[in-house]
Amino acid sequence: MATQLAPEHVVGRDRLIERAWHALEKHSVLFTAERRIGKTTVMKKMQAETPDGVTVRYLDLEKVGSPIRFVEVLLAEVRSLLPKSERAKKLFGELMGHLGGVEIGGVVKLPANNGAKWWQPALERVLACVCEHAPTTTLVLFFDELPYMLQKIAGCTEEGGDRAALAVLDVLRSARQEHPNLRMVFSGSIGLHHVVHALRDGKCASEPTSDMMTIEIGPLEASDAQDLARRLLSEARVECDSVDTVAAELADLTDRVPFYIERVAMCLALEPSPITPETVQRQVQSHLTNDLNHWEMEHFRQRIPTYYPGTIPVGDRATLAKADIVSCILDELSICESPRSIAEVCVAIKSSHPVENRALVIDLLRNLVLDHYLVCNDHKHYSFRFPLIRKWWQLAQGLAA
Ligand SMILES: Nc1ncnc2c1ncn2[C@@H]1O[C@H](COP(=O)(O)OP(=O)(O)O)[C@@H](O)[C@H]1O
Ligand SMILES: [Mg+2]
Repeated sequence: MATQLAPEHVVGRDRLIERAWHALEKHSVLFTAERRIGKTTVMKKMQAETPDGVTVRYLDLEKVGSPIRFVEVLLAEVRSLLPKSERAKKLFGELMGHLGGVEIGGVVKLPANNGAKWWQPALERVLACVCEHAPTTTLVLFFDELPYMLQKIAGCTEEGGDRAALAVLDVLRSARQEHPNLRMVFSGSIGLHHVVHALRDGKCASEPTSDMMTIEIGPLEASDAQDLARRLLSEARVECDSVDTVAAELADLTDRVPFYIERVAMCLALEPSPITPETVQRQVQSHLTNDLNHWEMEHFRQRIPTYYPGTIPVGDRATLAKADIVSCILDELSICESPRSIAEVCVAIKSSHPVENRALVIDLLRNLVLDHYLVCNDHKHYSFRFPLIRKWWQLAQGLAA
């Protein structure tokens, strides 16, 4: 996880945050976004500026790998919500006694050997206890990197793997339904839809997040991205003839993603002065072509076989990996200047692979939108979501002129 900014240094996001609070009045929320867009930053800012009548607890689940650890982390966070009365102390003591836990210096430890299913009622009880006794009208729990935790739980066979991970989602869903003052925000850089799909293993099961409202976190607004660029250039003592022009170029060429703005601004500080828009263009190009992978763009290519597993039959005996079809779609769209229809994408795939399965192509295009690679316009034409990633893909696949 990146180092977190103090809330007063967070640029923009006000309208998004307002929308999120509005949604949270009635619903729980699923934040979706590409990694490094600024999800954690948004949640931390919301935590720092919580409206009246709302209490927030933020849980970083990146290091949590078992349901029991999840209950422990939750217990430690929500404990302070119970009123400091003797009655509440007694209540917490009773809860810990019931769970067989101990608390040392604010860290809660629960027994790990009470049987695989034991944590389920414990989680239910903790959520019920805090919702019934917390002195607040609405409690919002932020679960950051939840999909990552679920993946780890699923990979942990002694906990019952996939079933345990799905059960965590089910308990959380039941708690949302049961307690009218409880809201949750799920966030993470791995798409939750991939994790849930893998957990169900294609089988039909309850949809664990269908009651939640999805909010996509996009790049910064243009004026905010330019403000951030100006501030970072000034902090790095970058000398420019026209700081406004350089900041505008920097914001534009990095797709207004704060993480990339920061990286380029740092490198500009090492360039000879004065910095011009051309220097920014050179720096961005150098980041995009650098095999040292400073921007971790390689991730967009490496994760494709994991996100799109499986093969399809082609011809009599041969098979074709779905990941290869996905790469082919991205290759085609990376070199097209305008968005492409489903029919055009199908024709492009057929020119290199014997794929007749139109439904599969439609499904892959839809998933590429969910994974933030692509966007679909009102004519149902597809193109890359981020010009920067399109440019990187073109270069990385050797397709650039
Ligand atoms: N609104 C913002 N204003 C200024 N910097 C930001 C903002 N959002 C993100 N950043 C910078 O980008 C980095 C990555 O953001 P982060 O919130 O950790 O992304 P995510 O959680 O989506 O992976 C942060 O550490 C911060 O330095
Ligand atoms: Mg994060």
